[in-house]
Amino acid sequence: MSAHDPAVHRSTPHESAARHVTGSAPYIDDLPEPKGLLHLAFGLADRAHARIVSLDLDAVRAAPGVVLVLTAADMPPDADLSPVHAHDEPILAGETVEFHGHPIFIVAAETRDAARRAARLGKVAYEDLPAAIDIEAARQTGRMVTAPMVLARGEAAPAIAAAPHVIEGRVVVGGQEHFYLESQIAMAIPGEADEVRVYSSTQHPSEIQHMVAHVLHLPLHAVTVEMRRMGGGFGGKETSGNIFAVVAALVATRTGRPAKFRPDRDDDMVVTGKRHDFAVDYKVGFDDAGVVLGIEGTFAARCGYSADLSGPITDRALFHADNTYYYPAVRFNSLPLKTNTVSNVAFRGFGGPQGVVMAERVMDEIAYHLGLDPLEVRKRNLYGHDTRNVTPYHQVVEDNVAPALIAALEERSDYGARRAAIRAANAKNPVIRRGIAITPVKFGISFTATHYNQAGALVHVYTDGSVMLNHGGTEMGQGLHVKVAQVVAAEFGLDVSAVRITATDTSKVPNTSATAASSGSDLNGMAAQAAARQIRERLTAFAAERWQVSADQVRFAAGMVQIGAESLSFAEFARRAYGARIQLSASGFYKTPKIHWDRASGKGKPFYYYAYGAACSEVAVDTLTGEYRVLRVDILHDVGKSLNPAIDIGQIEGGFIQGMGWLTTEELWWDGRGRLRTHAPSTYKIPACGDRPLHFEVALFDNENAEPTVFRSKAVGEPPFMLGFSVLHALSDAVASVADYRLCPRLDAPATPERVLAALEALQARAIP
Ligand code: MTE
Ligand code: MOS
Repeated sequence: MSAHDPAVHRSTPHESAARHVTGSAPYIDDLPEPKGLLHLAFGLADRAHARIVSLDLDAVRAAPGVVLVLTAADMPPDADLSPVHAHDEPILAGETVEFHGHPIFIVAAETRDAARRAARLGKVAYEDLPAAIDIEAARQTGRMVTAPMVLARGEAAPAIAAAPHVIEGRVVVGGQEHFYLESQIAMAIPGEADEVRVYSSTQHPSEIQHMVAHVLHLPLHAVTVEMRRMGGGFGGKETSGNIFAVVAALVATRTGRPAKFRPDRDDDMVVTGKRHDFAVDYKVGFDDAGVVLGIEGTFAARCGYSADLSGPITDRALFHADNTYYYPAVRFNSLPLKTNTVSNVAFRGFGGPQGVVMAERVMDEIAYHLGLDPLEVRKRNLYGHDTRNVTPYHQVVEDNVAPALIAALEERSDYGARRAAIRAANAKNPVIRRGIAITPVKFGISFTATHYNQAGALVHVYTDGSVMLNHGGTEMGQGLHVKVAQVVAAEFGLDVSAVRITATDTSKVPNTSATAASSGSDLNGMAAQAAARQIRERLTAFAAERWQVSADQVRFAAGMVQIGAESLSFAEFARRAYGARIQLSASGFYKTPKIHWDRASGKGKPFYYYAYGAACSEVAVDTLTGEYRVLRVDILHDVGKSLNPAIDIGQIEGGFIQGMGWLTTEELWWDGRGRLRTHAPSTYKIPACGDRPLHFEVALFDNENAEPTVFRSKAVGEPPFMLGFSVLHALSDAVASVADYRLCPRLDAPATPERVLAALEALQARAIP
């Protein structure tokens, strides 16, 4: 690359990379603590569903350092934290507790330790009520947190009835703890008059602003929310930060003192929602070649006690239950079930991965039934180009690269030869069995709530030629800020070092959407580009007039401005433009075109475009213990024309590993009383360095977005998560070897060693007769 190349399509390091590794990137808990700071803790319910008979908090109030104790009775009238205005999330449990860990009271104390010790001293008497902890129990009650959705195209039931082969089954997939390294945190500082400033680790500063204003009965202009960086969010900071920020702001305004809320890891894991676990019942009809003719699916989800985002999340499960496959006749319905567990929330893929679970299981079912290579069945069912290209929600797939991408990965990974070698080796080795699988992904990009697909940005050029950039997106480690800075730098022909990104701040760019649905750089990149272009157009007009040249003789490149035959530095030029009273600041706005969605009819174009990918994984399973290792992973992923290949590859690696963790070792376990017993890293196993594949190769598929997105790039945040399915299906392949590949292992997730062992034993038992 030369200095003349634009700042985009380059592997520029994350803007905080050096500060991250040297420990000098401040997170909220690192900020200097203001004088008089109060620390907060929750008193938590220890029943899953019960009426509170009495609440005795005398010992809490008398504990050393305690300044204030608040219960539901002290909450402002109407205060409710439901992000979808379902009015089902009071700040604190009042008459009834709805899950084990439900916050009942708040303690504010002089130190964090004092607050946490005092919070344990509450005496609560309960009268137990019937509790539905899991999906099966909730199904019995039939209670849902929100309205279910149906997607249908064609007549599924008759198509299945007429098919030569029919299989029915159920696949179960567990939930997932976000395990962001920085826990939830908020600090609120009371200001002049009724003003309050909130620092919150949130993906959605505008929603924090709305919640705080709503609870405190303030106009939005009295509440400012600032967010510099999160130590990971993964969807777990889209709505889950609300309660911590609201409580901090409430205590700050009640006491006139600043207040900080940082739960410890165990409390964070108990009090905040997780990925929804699902049980999916499917029925598929297919022909002798393994091509699907009709399919039905019921997607039951454990939503927890309140709606939160469970509606759109369970919707997205249906939107992705096709994955990359065409279904000629289809009917899917969701069951967003109410349970007496913490309210589940967004998590990378937003329900999409739970839809893909079914699609990939069905491909395996068909393959084992017909004695075909599962990859062959997958390929036969891919969306086509001009035919077989309509989704269950009636959107036409126009940008399909899955067939080409899978073919390229098949070759790169040497799938065919390795599969044959693995089968030969398995035939000789009774104990260690290897397995291999290629699974694809197609992920729809856009918020399905159409109005969310908008963004704003603010760009200032100073008289020394340095540029200040602010936009509505938040940085959670994904590299959004460097990408948007690259876009602005490219517009001015500057190096990215000339552009400074500032903390996301509701007083700079208002009315923003959550940084979610992978659309951060698509939306904010375009808004920032629009702002930068306005300034560049003003500068161009100024140069053309002052130097008496045509506009196309003015060029911005390599830190210089070329005007006809003259060339001056961007800094010198900015100074002259200021002297000529040219406005050097602009705000930009973007809204995604073309999209629309009608949930009632199940028809529309909810997604602007799709991102694609595929992964090939190989595993080795110890058939005596069920333990396994991932030996080799090859990935080919489509990010369009990458804004930043290094950042994108990092997202693909991280997404894959997180998806693999969800499907293999990460197991959430509630006991019969509804207590989450996996509430710390001692019992909840995320992938460690040692779990990485021994061979791990990620490449970008050579492509550009068919739509005019920012520099033709594609979103990358969530789609690679679903590449983790290749590990689950490689494990299935290894398990299938014990029954000579004649039976589908029906391996549920997470495929812990225990579950792999159980699948091996079940298959051996079924194979004997
Ligand atoms: N990468 C890191 N390092 N940390 C995160 O918290 N969140 C993921 C993904 N990648 C996340 C991440 C999720 S859930 C989403 S929706 C996207 O990043 C959000 O950012 P983007 O829209 O800028 O891609
Ligand atoms: Mo990501 S689950 O959309 O925050």
